[in-house]
Amino acid sequence: MSMLMKFTGLLGLLLLVQLPGGKSAPTDWDYVSNDPSEWPSAFKKWCGGRAQSPIKLIYSEARYDTDLPPYSIVEDNTPGRKFKVYNDGHKVSIFFSSAMMNVTVPGHPNSCFRPHSIHWHWGADDSHGSEHWMEGRHYPLEGHVVMWNCQFYSKFEDAANSFSGLAVLGILYEPDSSVTTYSRPLANMISLVASDPRLQRCAGCANETFEPPKVDMDAFPLGDLVPADRSQYYLYGGSLTTPDCRQNVMWTVYRQAQRVPPSVLATLRSLKYPDGSAMISNFRPPVPLNPTSPFGARRIVVRSFNSGSTPGLPRGASWLRADKLSSFGLSLVAVAMTVARAAV
Ligand SMILES: *[C@@H]1O[C@H](CO)[C@@H](O)[C@H](O)[C@H]1NC(C)=O
Ligand SMILES: *[C@@H]1O[C@H](CO)[C@@H](O)[C@H](O)[C@H]1NC(C)=O
Ligand SMILES: [Zn+2]
Repeated sequence: MSMLMKFTGLLGLLLLVQLPGGKSAPTDWDYVSNDPSEWPSAFKKWCGGRAQSPIKLIYSEARYDTDLPPYSIVEDNTPGRKFKVYNDGHKVSIFFSSAMMNVTVPGHPNSCFRPHSIHWHWGADDSHGSEHWMEGRHYPLEGHVVMWNCQFYSKFEDAANSFSGLAVLGILYEPDSSVTTYSRPLANMISLVASDPRLQRCAGCANETFEPPKVDMDAFPLGDLVPADRSQYYLYGGSLTTPDCRQNVMWTVYRQAQRVPPSVLATLRSLKYPDGSAMISNFRPPVPLNPTSPFGARRIVVRSFNSGSTPGLPRGASWLRADKLSSFGLSLVAVAMTVARAAV
């Protein structure tokens, strides 16, 4: 079996066939007046679909896969490069402009995901804010490293609109007043945001097509942004968590939360939406892993670790391997087919 077929097996199972249509969709959404509860009716194409994100990641409901090692990150750390920070009216992001970083999924030698940007979602207080819930906890902050498939596509825009196009790494954060040193890139971003009015509020971003001002920051290694323990994660096929909620995202959410000083949260909560109100609670609440209707295929979540006595899948039964399809691999095929039919 060729590498391409193996890799297609991975992504073809996880990432569902969903291409945006030619019809122009409504673009007005926010977390206050056209909030996440309205999205399924306002953005009918996907936001009410069967493979939406975020979800609650539940240890006992996820299947252990013995063959999920940490992804490898290869990057060019030539000094002097710059990234761009901006506030788009919904959140704050760093765009990895001109960065050459590649993430490889082990066991899939030609796989290539290129990190494009990271953005964050946070709450009004420490009781909520993350999009995914990790083993029963709603964390106050979650970062999303958005990556595009550079094996199948030659640029972000093509990948974002296509089958198997995107993969996102989810990073959870926990405030801890005893923490003094933490992720240097996050600290640098926070100090920029705290001091630059262009990043505090984008009034023009009330217009969704407005280009927000972008502020330079020194480039950094992606490894300094993700948790130290990258061996433990959950993996599932889902969607973007903002409209149009397209369902072509392979999600990896790290189990280990990063500890950060409470000032990180305070700075993010001091940012403003375009109308001048506090930029808080810019997260989508979790949606069910599977619709309550018993008809149609079911999604599954896998985890790379096993902390209890639950027996894992035997080695070689990995659903990542297209040549040894497991029963949940087959159920994912069914999900993909169901969604493909629904999209027609
Ligand atoms: C990333 O992959 C591309 C090919 O897609 C390659 O040209 C580039 O050198 C790689 N970057 C690094 C840092 O390995
Ligand atoms: C929105 O912004 C775009 C680009 O800046 C501009 O061309 C357009 O006229 C704006 N629309 C409104 C309604 O302000
Ligand atoms: Zn996000």
